[in-house]
Formats: sequence, C-alpha cells, structure tokens
Amino acid sequence: MRQIFYLVFINLVNLFYNLGLFIVEVGLFSSYIWWWKMRVLLFLSYLSDGPYLLVRKEGRRAPVLPQNLIYGETSCLTIKKILQEAEVKPSDRFVDLGCGRGLTVIFVNQFFHIPTIGVDIIPTFIRRAEILAKNLGLTKVRFIKENLSWVTMEQIGDGTIFYLTGTTFEDDLLVKITSRLELLPVGVQLITVSEKLDSTLFQLKKVKSFYFSWGKAEVFFHEKIG
Ligand SMILES: C[S@@+](CC[C@H](N)C(=O)[O-])C[C@H]1O[C@@H](n2cnc3c(N)ncnc32)[C@H](O)[C@@H]1O
Repeated sequence: MRQIFYLVFINLVNLFYNLGLFIVEVGLFSSYIWWWKMRVLLFLSYLSDGPYLLVRKEGRRAPVLPQNLIYGETSCLTIKKILQEAEVKPSDRFVDLGCGRGLTVIFVNQFFHIPTIGVDIIPTFIRRAEILAKNLGLTKVRFIKENLSWVTMEQIGDGTIFYLTGTTFEDDLLVKITSRLELLPVGVQLITVSEKLDSTLFQLKKVKSFYFSWGKAEVFFHEKIG
C-alpha cells in the first residue's frame, strides 16, 4: 500500500514538474505560429500511443538493450538555452543522436533557422517525425532511422553541433558511438547530457546544469580537437 502511495506521489510530482516546464515554454514561444502548429501536430500524432508505449512495443524488436531506450525529452526551453550556450551560428547544422519524436530537431530548425538532422532506432518515431516535418513544410530537416552504433559519416558527417542525451545508454553503446564521433572533423561541437564523452579527441569546454523532463542534469560542452 505504501509503495502504491509512493508511486502515485512520484507520478504527481513528475506531472506538475513537466506541466511547469510546459507553462514556461508557452510563455516564451506562444507568439510563434509555427510553435503552435508543431505542438498541436505532435500532440495529435501521439494521441493514441505515447512515446513510452511505442518504445515498449517497438523496443522489443530493436537490436539494443532496453536500458538504452528509456524515454525522456528535452523541452524547447532547455534546447534553446543549451544552443545559446553553444553560441550557435547561422552556418551550423544540428544533429540529435537519438532524437525520439524529433521535437528538438524541428524546434532548432525553426527557432535558429539552421538545417537539422535527427537519428533514432525506433521506426515509428522517424516515420511520424518525417510526416510532421512535411506537414510543417520544412525542407531543411532530415530524419534517419539508424542504430547509432552503425551511423555513417554520409548520414551525419555534415553536422557541426551534435547532441547526445545518452543518460541511460549502456557503456558498450557509448563506446561504439564514440568511435563514430571520432571520425568527425576537428572543430565540431558535441553536447552530451549527464556524462562527459570519454575520448582524448574531444576537449571539454564547460559544464552547465539544465532542466529536462526527467529532472535537472549536467550538460557537457565539447569540441573536437584531434
Ligand atoms: C532520452 S531519449 C532523447 C530524445 C531526444 N534526444 C530529446 O532530447 O528530446 C533517447 C533516444 O535515443 C534513442 N536510442 C537509444 N538507443 C539508440 C540507438 N542504439 N540508436 C539510435 N537511437 C537510439 C531512443 O529510441 C530514444 O528515442
């Protein structure tokens, strides 16, 4: 019984926390028509099955451990602050490695006016994100269904700012992703959440804390130096 109360309590806290984040987001972005369209279309496309349910359904067929697929989302407010901290330029191209529903990919394209790419292993995330981008009339947004362990330079090599929310990723997956990222040119930026990238080819520039759907987490800003 105590456990049930505890679970209900945790879920309520989480609900109010995310509601708070959303209210701040409304205050900041509600003057943008594209933001309303993006939010409404995203809401409608996941009305019958939310991202958590989808991951549970499709994750079983994905060739990765379930711990890598634990879902969480970066709010528009947080990705805006993170990219401002990264001093995004008009010539940048943003890549979300494990993009989920594609919220950051679409938001960054619309808010910062730069081309964006999202990669994810869950087929329905990618299919719905492509439909969403098409319905919003976006031409400089690309989604790729791929395992990050095998992602190629042809797919992501023209990115300049890479974003990795690998909070729950197993070590083996992180090692494989690192070996892909080490093929990128010198000067690209890599932003990781919760953990620093373990590679001598990337220099850690700064660490800051931001709010995510799962709570406050540290964000690591790196630059490729070798
Ligand atoms: C925590 S979610 C982050 C979503 C998004 N980046 C954001 O910040 O809103 C992590 C995503 O990584 C994806 N993922 C996990 N392992 C993957 C892999 N091996 N290849 C591609 N995507 C993967 C999951 O499907 C999930 O959508």
